[in-house]
Amino acid sequence: MKYRLQLHDQQWQLIDQDEPGMTPVIIDFVSGKTAYRRKYGHAGGEAISKAVGIKKGNRPTIVDATAGLGRDAFVLATMGCRVHMIERSDMIAKLLEDGLRRATEDEKIGPLIKDKLTLTCGDSRHALLNVPFQPEVIYVDPMFPLKDKTALVKKDMRMVQDIVGQDEDAGELLKIALRIATNRVVVKRPAYADHLAGIKPQASIKTKKHRFDIYLTPRPAL
Ligand SMILES: C[S@@+](CC[C@H](N)C(=O)[O-])C[C@H]1O[C@@H](n2cnc3c(N)ncnc32)[C@H](O)[C@@H]1O
Repeated sequence: MKYRLQLHDQQWQLIDQDEPGMTPVIIDFVSGKTAYRRKYGHAGGEAISKAVGIKKGNRPTIVDATAGLGRDAFVLATMGCRVHMIERSDMIAKLLEDGLRRATEDEKIGPLIKDKLTLTCGDSRHALLNVPFQPEVIYVDPMFPLKDKTALVKKDMRMVQDIVGQDEDAGELLKIALRIATNRVVVKRPAYADHLAGIKPQASIKTKKHRFDIYLTPRPAL
């Protein structure tokens, strides 16, 4: 395997064995890019909060069924939502678990993380039946084939994509999520992509590069 996990300075990092000079991938909710997004917001922050239905006085409970590097889940947790992440890749889940551990030890964000963000490693198609609370919202952000392989996709996401593949069963995950979420399922898609599994959402929120497709549940009769 081209990629492997190594323990360095008490944190797990993902390295590309073919590119020893490359900066390893770690999950850092405390001081990395993700933390910056918490402090200063980020492009798309407003869109994701609208998509999941955050309003004054309403912070829905969310299961992030495709946790990845935990960025979206972390942003939603810092907005005040209780978020449970599920990730099926053992390697990525190990990075997440390690990032969560370090975040819970941090004086500033530790209390928030302990209160709002949890994780299980497993396939959401089964694990969704066993989450710690009944989710109002299920968030699904599967890998999507790159339109242009040479496009400037961030190296960390390219590594994740190499490890996990194309999430070709995402349509099946959407159908399961639609039966479980009590309020809605939100699917993040690249702006150019078709609706997942050809299922039309009731609404979409667009950003420059992405689209959040919103499926209200229970689904109204078509
Ligand atoms: C595009 S990434 C998600 C990025 C994430 N939203 C973030 O902010 O970092 C997709 C991730 O979902 C995971 N995944 C896809 N299908 C899954 C499933 N059925 N159960 C659990 N994890 C899944 C993949 O392993 C991959 O790590």
